[in-house]
Amino acid sequence: MKLVKLIANLGYGSRKDVTAMFREGRITDPQGEVLYADDKVGHDAIRVDGEPLDPPPGMTLMLHKPVGYTCSTKDPGRVIYDLLPPRFRLRSPLLSSVGRLDRDTSGLLLMTDDGALLHRIVSPKAKLAKVYEATLAQDLRGDEGAVFASGTLMLESDTTPLAPAALHVHDARHAALTLTEGRYHQVRRMFAAVGNHVEALHRSRIGGLSLGDLPAGRWRLLDAGDLDILFGANA
Ligand code: URA
Repeated sequence: MKLVKLIANLGYGSRKDVTAMFREGRITDPQGEVLYADDKVGHDAIRVDGEPLDPPPGMTLMLHKPVGYTCSTKDPGRVIYDLLPPRFRLRSPLLSSVGRLDRDTSGLLLMTDDGALLHRIVSPKAKLAKVYEATLAQDLRGDEGAVFASGTLMLESDTTPLAPAALHVHDARHAALTLTEGRYHQVRRMFAAVGNHVEALHRSRIGGLSLGDLPAGRWRLLDAGDLDILFGANA
C-alpha cells in the first residue's frame, strides 16, 4: 500500500493532509531521515513527528467502559470514542465495539477493526461466557437461579427462549450472572422477568479475559496472548 494511504487510513488526516505532512518533512524513518511518499518502507520504519505509527489494522483493545458513555459514534452525549486517542475514530477499517454495553453499564468492552475476529467473538457458536455483576433493587427471592438455568425463560417480545444462564448469588442484592448470548438489555430484562430491577451493572469478564487492574475510562491494546486467554476459557 502507498504510504499516503497507509498513514491516512490510520486516522492521521485526509490523503491531502498526509501529502502535506510528507512535504513538511514530518514523516521520517527511525533515524530521522525524511521519507518521501513513494518510498517503500514498512509500518515499523515510519515515524510521524518522531513518534512510531499507531498500530496497523488488526488492532484489538479492551476498554474499561465507565457508566455514562454510549457505544456509538454519533450519540450527542459522551461516547466510548471520547476515551480513546482522537485518531482511532478516523481509522479505516473502522474500529468498532464488539457488541455493546448500555450507557448505564460499566465494565469490559472489546473493540476491534478485525471483522473476522469480531464475528468469532460474538458468534452464538463460540458461546463465549460473559459475566455480569448486578446490584439489585429488591432482595432475591431464591428461585432466580433455577429460572435462569432452565433454558425455558422467554423474555417479552422475544421469539425463542433464553439459553441457560448461571446465577451466582453473593448476597440478597448482589449476584453474578453468566451468559453465553447477548440479547438486547438481556441482564436487565432477565431480572425484570423475575420481578426485580437492576440498579447497577458491570461486565467483569468475557471468555477468560477480565479487566485486571485497568481503571475505569482507560484502555489497553490486546496481543495474541490476550486473545488466547479470551478464547481459552471455552476451549
Ligand atoms: N445486559 C444488559 O441489560 N445491559 C448490558 O449492557 C449488557 C447486558
